Amino acid sequence: MAFSRALGLSWACLAIAWCVYSWVSLLRNYLIARKIGIPLRVIPISHGNPFWMIIDRSVAIFWRKLPFIGNGNFTRYCWRGWEVGDKCRSHLEMGPVRMHVSPGRNEVYVCDPDALLEIFRRRTDFPRPLELFGKSSCDLANQRFFLLISFDTAILNVFGSNLATVDGEQWKKQRKIAASCFNETNNAIVWSESLSQANDMVRYWNTRPSISNIADDSRTLSLHVLSRAGFGKSFKFQGHLEKVASPVAKNYKESLQMVLDNCVLIMALGTDFLAKPWLPARLRRVHHAYVAFQDYLVDLYESEKRSMAEGRSTGQTLMSTLVRSSAAEARPEMSLTERELYGNMFLLNFAGHDTTTHTLTFALM
Ligand code: HEM
Repeated sequence: MAFSRALGLSWACLAIAWCVYSWVSLLRNYLIARKIGIPLRVIPISHGNPFWMIIDRSVAIFWRKLPFIGNGNFTRYCWRGWEVGDKCRSHLEMGPVRMHVSPGRNEVYVCDPDALLEIFRRRTDFPRPLELFGKSSCDLANQRFFLLISFDTAILNVFGSNLATVDGEQWKKQRKIAASCFNETNNAIVWSESLSQANDMVRYWNTRPSISNIADDSRTLSLHVLSRAGFGKSFKFQGHLEKVASPVAKNYKESLQMVLDNCVLIMALGTDFLAKPWLPARLRRVHHAYVAFQDYLVDLYESEKRSMAEGRSTGQTLMSTLVRSSAAEARPEMSLTERELYGNMFLLNFAGHDTTTHTLTFALM
């Protein structure tokens, strides 16, 4: 009895300490943000908080139903994916630049092509936040701003270090090899696969009385193009309502899909944690998909190495070009390690999947 009371008390103290810490951090970030003079939106919990990531959508849906308080910044911005429904509404309301202030960090949203070009050109003034769960993204004391993209880069190392998680000489090395993947032969594969998938998607839409799953179908299309261009695996387009939900990732595509759909969860909780047998079945399925995808990467790598050793030329997929360009480097220290190869393959999928899906969805809606 005394033990459980002590345990309860410890949890309560921890929760209170966490709340106090969050509010102090929020206040500190707000005071920094206020000095800049751009429109601000204050959100009480960071998107990057791993526990919040698990429940953010459900809480936001519940909160939205509450009278009087259900329609604030919290329900509008405090969950992953808010951008899809909001579109450019926030920029129309607040102008081309604004800042979201949260306990974890301040995020600047920019909607101005000239300003964005300038930001991307000045890499040293706007470095990527390579730290895990960064400090405040706006460091006025050093007169520097961290450019925030939609993920914390260090946690992208799930399959190995890659372009997004390294800097300096390492970045130059990886960038040179990764750049070789994007060539005319691969572009031709992307083009023909995109046409074929898009035709099938339109054909599917023509069979429906109305279309309500543009985002899901765009996601399938972009995944299939990536699978073909990245790994040489082709899949027939299946509309959202044609798919039969499968509890376990049965093949390469399903494991990649599950890894990409849950990558924020994988990155936030870590693969070691997800392997715990006492976790709910949903999380264990994600771990299963992660392991299966890792195995596929190893198989593809080994088969590419074999065909290289036998002097056979394989297709011009991203994976094969990456392996071959890396092996062709004259100096061994300039080629990619096996882990870096896997890391970069994952990055190409990660960086190419959501971006393409969202661009297509926004363009079509
Ligand atoms: C409409 C689709 C896309 C958009 C809007 C987009 C946007 C961006 C942006 C803004 C960056 C810069 C991030 C930074 O410098 O920190 C970036 C980087 C990157 N993107 Fe994309 N992207 C798209 C499609 C793709 C695709 C299809 C791939 C791969 C197949 C890809 C792979 C990458 C990689 C590897 C980087 C890191 C480059 C580096 O660090 O040098 N992206 N993307």
